[in-house]
Amino acid sequence: MRLNKIVFPVAGLGSRFFPATKSTPKEMLPVVDKPLIQYAVEEALEAGFTELIFVTSKSKTSIRDHFDSKLNTNLSNVTKEKKELLNKMNKIIPDGILCKYVFQEEPLGLGHAILQAKPIINDEPFAVILADDLIDAKTGVLRQMVDLYRDTKSSIISVHKIDKAYSAQYGIASITDKSQKIMKLTDIVEKPQPEEAPSNLGVVGRYIFCNEILQSLENISFGTGNEIQLTDGIKLMISTSSVYAYEFEGIRYDCGDKLGFIKANIEYALRNKIFGNELESYLKSRLKK
Ligand code: UTP
Repeated sequence: MRLNKIVFPVAGLGSRFFPATKSTPKEMLPVVDKPLIQYAVEEALEAGFTELIFVTSKSKTSIRDHFDSKLNTNLSNVTKEKKELLNKMNKIIPDGILCKYVFQEEPLGLGHAILQAKPIINDEPFAVILADDLIDAKTGVLRQMVDLYRDTKSSIISVHKIDKAYSAQYGIASITDKSQKIMKLTDIVEKPQPEEAPSNLGVVGRYIFCNEILQSLENISFGTGNEIQLTDGIKLMISTSSVYAYEFEGIRYDCGDKLGFIKANIEYALRNKIFGNELESYLKSRLKK
């Protein structure tokens, strides 16, 4: 079955960024000049997804506005260049791509957010991307995963090596063969303490799921943090179908965390053609003080 649907869960509280995220979704925070959600959408488009499903909260409308609203390009006082820029802003989503929006009434967890998209997903396989995991990669991580899905036809979750001291911030994968980039997942543990972590492979926000995950999510109860945890759904699914862990190629920035977000901004700003060099000089002189 064709893989063309992707879910963007963007209904979380974003409490680590309060007060910035009181009325603005975390996913609208910019890295240099582009909101996190736009990086995620561009990665999805590069991977060939054509149906984008946003799970949003009713009080945060700016994500829909960002993609659907149109700027007035007929202003009398703008230059030709600015008019071109306005036109470009009206075409962030190319023709032929469908954007759909569903609400999560309460932030009851990532697994719960994904379940809200079930009426649109129907019985198809689908991907999930968490925009606050920004990954800098030559070939987008979703593209890498879609290519693998063509061979495996199984669910695939992305992982990367972490410092075990931080295992309590991740879902941790337990795998059979560590020598491969793609490994059979045998277990997954939500936010374990370092001594209980089954490996140093932390789950990152890119997933491709066979439709069975929806049944698994419906059959689990509230877990860690009193939320419907995606990790618990994956754990249940492992007992009935093959799930793979994929160690992706790319550098991940945890933009759900202030320090990770600032690092991403510095890295992306340093390669900016207009001010990257000036920023580098500034940082060097600042560090000498
Ligand atoms: P996080 O746990 O990183 O986001 O969820 P959060 O809960 O918004 O952040 P903090 O901890 O309060 O700062 C990962 C992703 O899942 C979405 C979030 O929007 C984020 O993109 N999410 C999480 C939902 O859509 N709904 C939820 O109930 C929880």
